Amino acid sequence: MLVLGVESSCDETSASIVRDGKEVLSCVINSQINIHEKFGGVVPEVASRNHVYQVSMVFKQAFEEANLKPEDIDLVAVTEGPGLIGSLLVGVNAAKTFAMMYHKPLIAVHHLVGHIYANSIEHEMTFPAIALLVSGGNTELIYMKDHFQFELVGETLDDAVGEAYDKVARVVGLTYPGGPKVDKLAHLGKDTYNLPRVYLEDGSYNFSFSGLKSAVINLHHNAMQRGEEINVNDLCCSFQASVTEVLVRKTLRLAKEKNVKNIIVAGGVSANKGLKERFMEEGKDFNIMIPSIKYCTDNAAMIACAGYYQYKKDPTLADLHLNASSSLEIESK
Ligand code: KG4
Repeated sequence: MLVLGVESSCDETSASIVRDGKEVLSCVINSQINIHEKFGGVVPEVASRNHVYQVSMVFKQAFEEANLKPEDIDLVAVTEGPGLIGSLLVGVNAAKTFAMMYHKPLIAVHHLVGHIYANSIEHEMTFPAIALLVSGGNTELIYMKDHFQFELVGETLDDAVGEAYDKVARVVGLTYPGGPKVDKLAHLGKDTYNLPRVYLEDGSYNFSFSGLKSAVINLHHNAMQRGEEINVNDLCCSFQASVTEVLVRKTLRLAKEKNVKNIIVAGGVSANKGLKERFMEEGKDFNIMIPSIKYCTDNAAMIACAGYYQYKKDPTLADLHLNASSSLEIESK
């Protein structure tokens, strides 16, 4: 089955063609990072305008790279939400237009479910599993009994982990998106700042990152006022050590409690090297699935994969009334 995936929920315009939820024949991603970098974050209106500008070219390139024609496609899968509404609407309307023109079935995919299914490209996804979803907008622990069965067990009570990374990065003078830059500097430093491990021992599966973020901001601010020098590499290392310890320990504790061997890590922050290293070190008894960096951040291949598995579980199709939704719950099928 050939699925055309379409993704435009934030600042990446992407189209991809994937065979049977696994074999990526093409995955074209047009990133707007350079445009938004100077603003210090994504400007929604600027993002949607750029999606309009890029979307047709990205579709065309996806077909060229896969050496296929629109007629070859069996299913169109598009990100319905959550995300920036103006951005989402561009992808949804492009996918609807394509489906209508070529008489193809259309399926609406949840963006975060897409991140989870990015793992199907390089791993045999086996269940039951615990999914740790870490992105710029979400931090969630999900118990999955099977494909498309989602039970939310814990989530952040304030900032998402990617958001905390980006804010800490800004404070220490790194440009948006700061996550990858903090990750890089963390590997050059030592964990000397003794930052809090929030909610590590509270018995719940919830997270909180705003206190940790404030601890970094205050530490930096106080040092500036006293004229003391901050070792940015060590501060990034201490921040990353705190974040990864809480994420990994809680995930492994839940896996043990549920007697589950499979762990799925997904979302933009799953690209974090420190997180991967800690999972590999502390989770030796588990089957840890993390996508390669290309499929960690937003891309349409993951949407095509999720669309494929969703269709197999529940072949309910979207019609041309499909709308985008900026906030959307994950639904089991
Ligand atoms: O999933 P994603 O591409 O977009 C959504 O939020 O939906 O995630 C983007 C987030 C940003 O906050 C970015 O800083 C973070 O993922 N990120 C990282 C790394 N790569 C991307 N955070 C930490 N370490 C990384 N290597």
